[in-house]
Amino acid sequence: MQAKPVSQSQVVMSYRVLPQDTNPAGNIHGGVILKHIDSAAGVVAARHCRTNVVTASIDSMSFLEPIFVGELVTFMASPNFVGTSSMEIGVRVEAENLLTGHVRHTATAYLTYVSLDEARNPVPIPKLIMETEEQKRRHEEACLRRKARLEARKRGKKSKND
Ligand SMILES: CC(C)(COP(=O)(O)OP(=O)(O)OC[C@H]1O[C@@H](n2cnc3c(N)ncnc32)[C@H](O)[C@@H]1OP(=O)(O)O)[C@@H](O)C(=O)NCCC(=O)NCCS
Repeated sequence: MQAKPVSQSQVVMSYRVLPQDTNPAGNIHGGVILKHIDSAAGVVAARHCRTNVVTASIDSMSFLEPIFVGELVTFMASPNFVGTSSMEIGVRVEAENLLTGHVRHTATAYLTYVSLDEARNPVPIPKLIMETEEQKRRHEEACLRRKARLEARKRGKKSKND
């Protein structure tokens, strides 16, 4: 299986916040942001694997700033790390006030997707080629998060069996 460069599967998706996405104060609901994060990251995973992919986990995420009705929200999603059948996708969320042009970083999320075959069993995926220093840094940070995730999963399985 041929390794693929990060740039081949990255996506940038934008969405303008509508009144039905917000609470009475005009702030977007967190669930709406999460849905778009999962959609953007899912496209990256599908592009990299070209198989059916499922979300295995979403790391804890913080909403750094509110986003308001009428603003343009942009989701920049990129593959950070590839394991055997799973991969981590990072998503940076920015909000732009279309009247002033001011752009704020509002959230960052890391999601893990697993590639499945027709029988819904995990299957190996192409390795990842890092082309820039930033991609290499993200990869190194993703390795640390993967290690922590595997340890947490092991602890979870152990406490279930105790
Ligand atoms: C995700 C899923 C396929 C994993 O199945 P599994 O039998 O536990 O898979 P395995 O233990 O063989 O692990 C396969 C890979 O997934 C990773 N993985 C499994 N569960 C994970 C989790 N909760 N978080 C992060 N990674 C996970 C493993 O680390 C492994 O990675 P690797 O192959 O790169 O080393 C299965 O739990 C599932 O189908 N979950 C439901 C997914 C879903 O419905 N998502 C929401 C809608 S898309």
